[in-house]
Amino acid sequence: MMKSEMEKDILKVLVTEEEIKARTAELGQALYEQFEGRQPLFLSVLKGSFVFLADLVRATQLKSDVEFIAVSSYENATVSSGRVRITHDLQQDITGRDIIIVEDILDSGNTLAFLKNYLLAKNAASITIVTLLDKPSRRTKAVTADYSGFVVPDEFVVGYGLDYCQKYRNIPYIGVLKPEVYAG
Ligand code: PRP
Repeated sequence: MMKSEMEKDILKVLVTEEEIKARTAELGQALYEQFEGRQPLFLSVLKGSFVFLADLVRATQLKSDVEFIAVSSYENATVSSGRVRITHDLQQDITGRDIIIVEDILDSGNTLAFLKNYLLAKNAASITIVTLLDKPSRRTKAVTADYSGFVVPDEFVVGYGLDYCQKYRNIPYIGVLKPEVYAG
């Protein structure tokens, strides 16, 4: 297949579609075993996690429901501002619920540190963190994922939900963006 305009901005593929699919199946199975017989609430952290969420819930055949929250701390910058803002809040009471937070990437940890406190303050019974990508080299907050798909190096990754200036989310794999794209 011809390379799309978008793909010409990709330096290299870091995680292929096949690798994502296989790992998501494993994560789905692990979640199924952990929560079998219960009804956890999958909480997708928008926007980045929407692609992963769609595949993960189908890989986890639990009688579960889905909720969304949108937060922002980057605002088109490449480094987290540290201030996390809720731009779309929960639309339901989560008291007593087992929450599975679904993230595309755990980077500085600012987002998940904030969200954990926020959800506990809303009386969640338990919080389980699932992230597709983990970039431990950039962590500034003491947050760890319960389940992580792939550990990635400190490179500018896009695709499979992850963006640069709101673009590239619809690339079906994880790629590294060419530096000239964000330097220019
Ligand atoms: C990204 C990503 C995580 C967060 C992780 O969101 O989706 O939510 O950053 O980074 P952290 O560990 O340093 O907090 P972003 O704010 O870029 O918004 P988006 O999901 O809409 O792309």
